[in-house]
Amino acid sequence: MIKTTVEELCSLHTNLSAEDVSRIKELASHLPLIADLNRANVFIDCPTKEGKYAVVVAEAAPSTTKSVYEKPVVGKFAYEAFEPSVYYTLRTGKPMFLNRALTQEGKTVDQSVVPIMGSRQRVIGTLIMEKDITELVQRQQKMEALSEATEALSGILMGLAENRPIIPEMIEESIFFLDQDGRILYCNPSGTNLIQEIVEDGSWIGKELVAYFPVIQSILTDADELIVQEIKMLKKVFQVKKIELLQQERASGTFIIFKNITELREKERELIVKSVAIREIHHRVKNNLQTIASLLRLQMRRGLPEESKVHFVESLNRITSIASVYEIILSGSSVDDVDLFKLIEKIGNTLVFEAEHEHKHISITYSGSHTRISSNKAVSVALVVNELIQNCVKHAFRTIHQGKIEVIFHSRQEQMEIQVMDNGEGYSPQAKPSLGLDIVKMMIEHDLSGNFSIKRAETGTIASVKFPLNREEVQL
Ligand SMILES: Nc1ncnc2c1ncn2[C@@H]1O[C@H](COP(=O)(O)OP(=O)(O)OP(=O)(O)O)[C@@H](O)[C@H]1O
Ligand SMILES: [Mg+2]
Repeated sequence: MIKTTVEELCSLHTNLSAEDVSRIKELASHLPLIADLNRANVFIDCPTKEGKYAVVVAEAAPSTTKSVYEKPVVGKFAYEAFEPSVYYTLRTGKPMFLNRALTQEGKTVDQSVVPIMGSRQRVIGTLIMEKDITELVQRQQKMEALSEATEALSGILMGLAENRPIIPEMIEESIFFLDQDGRILYCNPSGTNLIQEIVEDGSWIGKELVAYFPVIQSILTDADELIVQEIKMLKKVFQVKKIELLQQERASGTFIIFKNITELREKERELIVKSVAIREIHHRVKNNLQTIASLLRLQMRRGLPEESKVHFVESLNRITSIASVYEIILSGSSVDDVDLFKLIEKIGNTLVFEAEHEHKHISITYSGSHTRISSNKAVSVALVVNELIQNCVKHAFRTIHQGKIEVIFHSRQEQMEIQVMDNGEGYSPQAKPSLGLDIVKMMIEHDLSGNFSIKRAETGTIASVKFPLNREEVQL
């Protein structure tokens, strides 16, 4: 930027005489000192030829504090609407002090303006000082909010003192306030009820709290100012909180709060019992499925017509795939969901391992994200993927002996996609769907609300299953 001098600006925009200009120039040379001393930005504004505006002819930012302005303002015009104090001083020759103003850069400033007198007592300009008070204003606003909160709080406490309790009345917890010797100064209605469970007499004022509840002795004598502990008394479970109030480093009283958490603990216990029961049921389902599978195997060994064998094997695979879901559930920590990756891996490996008996050399790989899905859905997905991998094993590699199967898991936002690909002969669109693909379509449309596609790829077949995930089903 070209640095413009005071003379240049004055001759360009003002009607000031050479004498006035040199007076302004002289003053401008002291601006940095004035700025540093006052820790403020200072400017000289002079009236323009038409008298409508004022122009900034010199400025200085303080080196002793942060400047109000980030960009230079010399050469800019000041408008009456924005800088009324400058115009007031230019017009009247009177100074104006600590007027609050907002700069064009959005900062709150305190602005002071004094006139600069020239020859024949004419106002030839103004000396302006601006101090950033944004932080001060913010602090004031914070103080106001704080004092409002304090007022509201003392209102509540006054209500307490006047026996007009508002908040403690509504609180379920039993609240006690004790003096330094552990004597009760205040207790809320719930606290009175708790005492009355032990003694009928409700006159607790001045009595020691520990006399009613000996179990809290150790909590009271503990040196910690804040303690949260679970205790059992009156055949219930309580969470006890101790809060010691300090005033100038000395204990001035103690809050003891009892919260009855018996119901919560009871519910937790029930949940544990239930999940143990659910695991037990899963166990039995798995065992029953495995029994059915062994019965089928037994029957196969007893001799079957060759053409029925394949159907037996397929049914067996379907049953073991469902059993796998229960095995995976039982091996994990949760009874409600299953790691889908692990499940499909187990099913795929079993199917490919069985194909070895038929002297087919097939390898299978798995990649992509691990996602937990609900055990309900897992049964349907297990059956679907069982059919798809079984199809690869059965149809893709009739002539090819080094087969590859690839299973890829993609989970995006709330959508899951599983792709089963092989490098075999390729699916023919003319192929007639049989029970296998019918099961796939039915499961996906009815149980998973998703969609299915199967097509021939450059080498082999790509089958893809897409279905929505619930919010609770998460990527691991
Ligand atoms: N991966 C694949 N590669 C080549 N062809 C396939 C593949 N998957 C399916 N097909 C073709 O699609 C047809 C239908 O498959 P589908 O699973 O419905 O029946 P299936 O496997 O013949 O009998 P099943 O009812 O016992 O599963 C198959 O007969 C086969 O021709
Ligand atoms: Mg099939």
